[in-house]
Amino acid sequence: MNRERIINSPELGNKAEAYEAFDDIPTNPHLRRTIGDVINARYGRRDVLRGMLGVTASTALLSTSALIAPRAAQAGTTSNYRFEELAAGNDETHHVAPGYEAQILLRWGDPILAHAPDFDVMNQSAAAQLGQFGYNNDFIGFVPLNDAGTRGLLCVNHEYTNEEVMFPGLGRQDRADFAGMTRELIDIEMAAHGGSIVEVAKRADGHWTVIRDGAMNRRITPLDTPMVLSGPAAGHARMKTSDDPEGRNVIGTLNNCAGGMTPWGTWLMAEENFHGYFWSDVLDADGRPDVSTHADTVSKKRYGVPGRWYAWGKEYRRFNIDHEPNGPNKFGWVVEVDPKDPTSTPIKRTALGRFRHEGAETIVSADGRLVVYMGDDNRFDYQYKYVSDQPVSDVASENSGLLDQGTLYVARFDADGTVAWLPLVHGTGPLTAENGFASQADVLIDTRLAADALGATPMDRPEDAQPRGDGTAYIMLTNNRRRTTPNAANPRTTSHFGHIIEIKEDDGNHAAPKGRWSILVKCGDPAIAEVGAQWHPGTSTDGWFASPDNCAFDADGRLWVATDQGSRWGKTGKSDGLYALETKGAARGTSRLFFRCPVGGELCGPCFTDDGETLFLAVQHPGTDGTKNLPGFARASTFEDPATRWPDFDPQMPPRPSIVVVTKQGGGKIAH
Ligand code: FEO
Ligand code: CA
Ligand code: CA
Repeated sequence: MNRERIINSPELGNKAEAYEAFDDIPTNPHLRRTIGDVINARYGRRDVLRGMLGVTASTALLSTSALIAPRAAQAGTTSNYRFEELAAGNDETHHVAPGYEAQILLRWGDPILAHAPDFDVMNQSAAAQLGQFGYNNDFIGFVPLNDAGTRGLLCVNHEYTNEEVMFPGLGRQDRADFAGMTRELIDIEMAAHGGSIVEVAKRADGHWTVIRDGAMNRRITPLDTPMVLSGPAAGHARMKTSDDPEGRNVIGTLNNCAGGMTPWGTWLMAEENFHGYFWSDVLDADGRPDVSTHADTVSKKRYGVPGRWYAWGKEYRRFNIDHEPNGPNKFGWVVEVDPKDPTSTPIKRTALGRFRHEGAETIVSADGRLVVYMGDDNRFDYQYKYVSDQPVSDVASENSGLLDQGTLYVARFDADGTVAWLPLVHGTGPLTAENGFASQADVLIDTRLAADALGATPMDRPEDAQPRGDGTAYIMLTNNRRRTTPNAANPRTTSHFGHIIEIKEDDGNHAAPKGRWSILVKCGDPAIAEVGAQWHPGTSTDGWFASPDNCAFDADGRLWVATDQGSRWGKTGKSDGLYALETKGAARGTSRLFFRCPVGGELCGPCFTDDGETLFLAVQHPGTDGTKNLPGFARASTFEDPATRWPDFDPQMPPRPSIVVVTKQGGGKIAH
């Protein structure tokens, strides 16, 4: 499809929506067997109709309007979460369940370093932004600094920027080939990406506050933060650039989406849509970057490099593949940061593979090793996990090699309910020099190509994945509109709403080479038969959701799911939000709404403190996605004319991505 047609489509209200539509075209050429096909094979329509499935499977699968319960009916369902459900909807502000407080803790532009100036949105500068909280907060980690957990460090990813609502008078730049993007604006964008480490404390009155001059406060950005590469791909010829002849150094990190924390207290920042930051002036007849003359054309095409969604490559050669063809190979990794040492150098851990890393959630396996679950967020891409060779030590400094020495696996979901984890190891199976993989570095730099060769299962966009200590993991599959072949168990010819898969690893051991999989829920409105949703009948009209994305467990091992419908929230009429989703007992598959975003925002983060009394949430890009669907507004947002000015509601201030902290009125554990 012609790039200009997508960019100029009147249906797409901002650059992020156009970007999403552009990425709707999968790069995986190996689409023989999608997860939908496997589900179809596993749970055939005839089996469902004849009642041949076991109780669990049929409960998980049946979907009719008769299964949707009015809210009153929930009283009869024993829930593991105790709170009064919030009413779904979409308007200019956030909402939380009755009896809870949602306080704005940190906003884009809030100064977090001692020297940083107060935010002045009309006169923003890169120098100011480098000391201020960044844009589009996504992952949140919490590192306690005292035994009570009342002081700690928030580790927050800043995924991307929305120039049309950040900068006065600028408007959409993708439609103008970024002509308005000056070096200063580019530098501000770069300084607003990356991550923030911010000390926070709980006051005696139960409210949280930011410690502006906290000794460990730090900004990490793609503008100015030196990083090193470690693991098998570090130093490889394909990692070398003119400013780094050793192939072991890189400035910054890109598009940090979800992430994770390690058992030893470090922060894993996942690099997701890195391809969009690379530029080329060499275009094909459709206006798309033409990489046919590159030495690694197949690899670049498989990764969608360069995406050309930011103008940084016009100013910085390291983001321009016409000058630095290896530049993109330094991104798409998982970055480890020690948040307690503000002078530490972040490390890109190449052993965890290179792809559009959504997250990197960790768990210690039953045999003591570190396991990291990671999705590759693209239509028809894969689910991965990494297992360290050595066990996790109680001594933090002894764990520095765990993310360099280990095995990366990709998942194959078989029709008999087995998930097989296929090792991405050079010399194993097809991963040989004859097939283009001369070393483990090649396997890792081209993780996607290696996974293609192994016959991994193409999925419906793997977002966050969350492991639990009992050998279980939940995989968020957000949607896949590109499914064209209807099938019995997944009858939607396009999956607008996504689903969640549960994995139970063999012997409860997350390091196991295989396990069993099943579907926990299929998302969307269960009252509309054509949607094909599957929920426990105790789920109310407010409780069902679409497009699961980030997720978290609370201190009691209960699952919470955050949604990102993008511009498609118009199909549900609901804003994005946070849902309590039962995974155990008779109520398994029941979902209830706890918090919802202001219009155009996506919910990220969710992060509970260990005492279960505090929940940190990240509201990303408020006022942007799908605002044409908002009755009474019905147009795309701009800086001057946004659908909401959340959270300040100051007529001079655009919407600001912000961290919200939720506590129970009068104190106590959340949902108890
Ligand atoms: Fe950045 Fe896949 O969400
Ligand atoms: Ca996400
Ligand atoms: Ca998302």
